[in-house]
Amino acid sequence: MTRLAFQPSLDGQSQPSHDGPSRLSLDGLRVAVTGGTSGLGLALVEALDGHGAHVAFVARREKLVTEVASRHPNTHGIVGDVSRKEDTHRIAMRIAAALDGLDVLINNASSLGPVPLALLADTDCEDLEEALATNVVGPFRLTKALLGALAAAAREGRPALVINVSSDAAVTPYSGWGAYGASKAALLHMSRIWDAELERHGVRVVALDPGDMDTPLHAAAVPEADPTTLKRPADAAAEIVARIEAFLRHETPHEARHEAVTASA
Ligand SMILES: NC(=O)c1ccc[n+]([C@@H]2O[C@H](COP(=O)([O-])OP(=O)(O)OC[C@H]3O[C@@H](n4cnc5c(N)ncnc54)[C@H](OP(=O)(O)O)[C@@H]3O)[C@@H](O)[C@H]2O)c1
Repeated sequence: MTRLAFQPSLDGQSQPSHDGPSRLSLDGLRVAVTGGTSGLGLALVEALDGHGAHVAFVARREKLVTEVASRHPNTHGIVGDVSRKEDTHRIAMRIAAALDGLDVLINNASSLGPVPLALLADTDCEDLEEALATNVVGPFRLTKALLGALAAAAREGRPALVINVSSDAAVTPYSGWGAYGASKAALLHMSRIWDAELERHGVRVVALDPGDMDTPLHAAAVPEADPTTLKRPADAAAEIVARIEAFLRHETPHEARHEAVTASA
C-alpha cells in the first residue's frame, strides 16, 4: 500500500486567529514519549493526544500506565524500563507496532541519580550508573532501535524527529547535581552528534530544556522549593508541541535545536 506523505493542516488558515500564530493540527503524527505517566511526559501525552497525534508512551509502573491509557483511550501505554537493555527491543517493537511506524520520539524519562541529591564525592557508583543508564544509554539504545522506523518516515516524506529532554544542569555545574548533570551533559552532546550524523538521512535530533517544573522529580530533588514559583508541566509541554509544529513548518533554525524551549519560543 502506498502511504501518503504526512500533510499537516493549518488550523485557522481560512479564518485567521486573533490570538497568536496559526496552530498546526498534529493529526496522524506518530509520537512516542518515554516517561508518559507523570510530570512533563504525562503533560506531553495529554497535549499531543489533544492535538490529534497518535501517541504511545512508556513507563515502569503498570498501574499508572493503565490509568493514563484508560483516561486517554486513543493512546497506547507500554510498560517498560528504558534503563534496561533487555527491555529496549520490546519497547521499540511495541511502539512501532502500535503506531504503525514512528515520526517523533521524545526521550523524556529520567533519573536524578542519588535521592536526596549528593555531592559527587558522596555519590554511590550505582547511583551514577542508574542516571547514566536512564538518561544517556537508554535514550541511545531506544533511538538506535527506532532509527529504521524514523528513517522510513523520512523516506516517505513524513517528519522524523528525536527530542531528548535536557536540563540547564547539562551546562551549569550545580553542586549536588553531579550524576544528573553529567548524564544530561552527555545526552545534550550526544544529541548534537546524532543530529550531525543523521541530517543526511532526514532524521533530526534536538535537545530541549523544559525549565524548572512542578513535578515529582523536582520535588524529590528540591523538596523545599515553592511549587508556585515553578513552571506548570502543561506549559512546558505546550512549548515543546510548538517546537514540533515549527519543525513541521521547517522553521527550526540550527542554533535553536539544543536549548531551553522558552529561549526563542
Ligand atoms: N522537573 C523539572 O524541574 C525539570 C527541569 C529540567 C529538566 N527536566 C527533565 O524533564 C523530564 C521529565 O521530568 P519530570 O520532572 O516530568 O519527571 P517525573 O515527574 O519524575 O516523571 C518521570 C516519568 O518517567 C518515568 N520513568 C522514570 N524512569 C523510567 C525508566 N527507567 N523507564 C521508563 N520510564 C521511566 C516515570 O514513571 P515510572 O516511575 O513509573 O517509570 C514517570 O512517568 C526529565 O528528562 C527531566 O530530567 C525536569
